[in-house]
Amino acid sequence: MTMPALLRPSEILATMRGVGGWLEDSEAELLLAAAAWVTRGGGARTLVEIGSYQGRSTVVLGAALRALSPESRLYAIDPHQGTVGAADRRLSRGTPTFDAFCANIEGAGVARFVEPVRSLSYEVAWSRPIDLLFVDGLHDRLNVERDFRHFAPFLAPSAAVLFHDYASYYPGVVAFVDEIVAREGWEVAARAGSMIMVHRPEQQAAQPTPAQERVVSQVPL
Ligand SMILES: C[S@@+](CC[C@H](N)C(=O)[O-])C[C@H]1O[C@@H](n2cnc3c(N)ncnc32)[C@H](O)[C@@H]1O
Repeated sequence: MTMPALLRPSEILATMRGVGGWLEDSEAELLLAAAAWVTRGGGARTLVEIGSYQGRSTVVLGAALRALSPESRLYAIDPHQGTVGAADRRLSRGTPTFDAFCANIEGAGVARFVEPVRSLSYEVAWSRPIDLLFVDGLHDRLNVERDFRHFAPFLAPSAAVLFHDYASYYPGVVAFVDEIVAREGWEVAARAGSMIMVHRPEQQAAQPTPAQERVVSQVPL
């Protein structure tokens, strides 16, 4: 008998705690909730993670897809050179993380839902609609904005966008998120720890931007 892949949050969190990185339980829970939200209507969804490191957040999002939407995929973008921090504060250069990342997503049983993209976010040639974008690369204003803007034209009208480290220790993240909320029609949907999720209210979401229309007409769904 094949066992159904049930969503078991406490098991997912236990697996996550065994992976190096920087995600608290409450933040992981919000990632799970966001993944459940964007996959609720069924069909193949596209999730994008910027900044995977050793795969701590990747195993959480991958486990959500395994249980809720196995036809969906998580694109996990990271050059895996081991550089973390914020360019305007302190950058720490560690060891490359790709081998650990692969071992961790394999060990967590989520590798088949994850497409690793070994690149800087803004060098990825992207072309498909995105349902969930998780931004957790470098945490200075320039990099957060560059990560977001590179993918923003592809966000589906009802997409969820999550930023990690929305906190006083990374003022660039706070400044950028506050700006898109104040000026660009994004609304805070939820917060947990230093994770913040934003979305576009339904009315505005119903009006796709010209870029979204172009993308949707180009990509076979
Ligand atoms: C804070 S760590 C990510 C932590 C991870 N999400 C977790 O749950 O542990 C930041 C990662 O972002 C990656 N990174 C830095 N700049 C990037 C960029 N422009 N595009 C993609 N990844 C980037 C680094 O290589 C590093 O592995």
